[in-house]
Amino acid sequence: MAFEKEIGKRKTFGIIAHPDAGKTTLTEKLLLFGGAIQEAGAVKSNKIKKGATSDFMEIERQRGISVATSVLAFEYKGKKINILDTPGHKDFAEDTFRTLTAVDSVIVVVDVAKGVEEQTEKLVEVCRMRNIPMLVFVNKMDREGKDAFDLMDEIELKLGLRVSPLSWPIGIGSSFKGIYDIRQKSIGLFSSDNKQKISEPVSFSDLNHPDLEEIIGSNYAENIREEINIVNEVYPEFSREEYLNCNLQPIFFGSALNNFGVRELLDAFVEIAPEPQPKETDFRTVLPNENKFSGFVFKIHANMDPKHRDRLAFVKVVSGKFERNKNYLHVRAGRQMKFSSPNAFFADKKEVVEESYAGDIIGLHDTGNFRIGDTLTEGENMSFKGIPSFSPEFFRYVNNADPMKAKQLEKGIDQLMDEGVAQLFTLEYNNRKIIGTVGALQYEVIQYRLEHEYGAKVNYENFPVYKACWVEAEDEKSEEFKEFKRIKQKYLARDKFDQLVFLADSSFTIQMSLEKYPSVKLHYVSEF
Ligand code: G4P
Repeated sequence: MAFEKEIGKRKTFGIIAHPDAGKTTLTEKLLLFGGAIQEAGAVKSNKIKKGATSDFMEIERQRGISVATSVLAFEYKGKKINILDTPGHKDFAEDTFRTLTAVDSVIVVVDVAKGVEEQTEKLVEVCRMRNIPMLVFVNKMDREGKDAFDLMDEIELKLGLRVSPLSWPIGIGSSFKGIYDIRQKSIGLFSSDNKQKISEPVSFSDLNHPDLEEIIGSNYAENIREEINIVNEVYPEFSREEYLNCNLQPIFFGSALNNFGVRELLDAFVEIAPEPQPKETDFRTVLPNENKFSGFVFKIHANMDPKHRDRLAFVKVVSGKFERNKNYLHVRAGRQMKFSSPNAFFADKKEVVEESYAGDIIGLHDTGNFRIGDTLTEGENMSFKGIPSFSPEFFRYVNNADPMKAKQLEKGIDQLMDEGVAQLFTLEYNNRKIIGTVGALQYEVIQYRLEHEYGAKVNYENFPVYKACWVEAEDEKSEEFKEFKRIKQKYLARDKFDQLVFLADSSFTIQMSLEKYPSVKLHYVSEF
């Protein structure tokens, strides 16, 4: 069927990295190769610059950019590639976690000088939990950095990956000569003065060929022969099946800024990266090539214009074909909806599209009907799993600072929480509202947006919480559960989905509770 062919063409992925490792630069170079943009500098960096954390204009600017760069699509070698943007800033980690529910694979960027950094570790952990195939790109080879073998060790140790190099550097930093492409058996020569030009790699089916000396000099020739021998001995051979099963991660080296090693990466990516993957619902597994459309909302973006409160809901098409103006079931709301102007995304623009296929991302205009995690189907009553909330890091009471605007405040908070800006907990015993966030910056964003978009004013009060734990009782009628609820009364709240949450003030409290009430399970994630 034609639509199966369309689905088979799609490769939807995210690039994850610690800030500054080169995610934006690599994205841009991939788009250049794909012919989607004509010059460098076209992709705006979607990151909060150092020192700008309390600058509201900066936040607003970021929101604008992050819509523009949310999805970047291009065609390369007959494949349709969708790159999903993932903010590297840790205060937006939750946004990244959610975006990772919509990708079929990821590229992990590591800075050769800095090695494995904190944010990379966290994101790789999430990908491992979700069984997302990973491919690693070691960037900035034009700079002095770690020895390639040491870096492999670090990646294995810190990220727990089983690496299989598919390219290998010749020299590093000021003595960086180029890359040996292990897969294609060819050498790409590096020259730092032709940044945007891409020179053709030289084929080398036999590294012992005497021409190698001539091209890179005898010292480098000897080194690379030796190193490739070690690579062949030490690291497992690449197997696509193992990569797709998340048991093996191919590694590439290069310099995104110098456009070097990027083509090798992209060529390998289109060949080995997975096509759209099946996804679990509460009833069954949905396969991408099913006839009927299904999809889920993984991101909601508020409009920049405060006068029009419409939003853009980003939907990953999981199965079948999405069509403009066709009726679909919004499962949670239990009603039919149709969309007259669904957007598809391209490198530098978004456009209304007639149809989209499994693997694609569409942007639906929303006036407040959607919430992150919502499922759309052709009528089947099922909901996609796997967009859990994690325990926030910060918790504060939110107080209404303008009693005349209580309604606006309620609506504002409700909509911002739908967008996933933060999490709302309502204490059971007194109905006070607590907002939990991943970073302190979000409180300023919320305060600012409530005032400018909803005309409501808030102030905050600290509420010392160590972790939010979602509560699961073996038996809700048991005496033990009743006692737990009575004793912990002041720390029990409901989340947005009315799930019971225990706001524990220390790890000790959690430990004690688990010992005292063994039939009451506590989870750090809302989906269990
Ligand atoms: P991010 O999105 O992961 O946060 O990183 P980004 O691409 O913005 O890159 C961070 C910095 O690293 C940028 O420099 C960028 O030019 C530089 N960079 C990226 N790839 C390479 C590379 O292969 N080699 C070298 N030497 N540098 C690289 P900046 O000075 O922070 O920003 P800008 O002024 O260049 O935009």
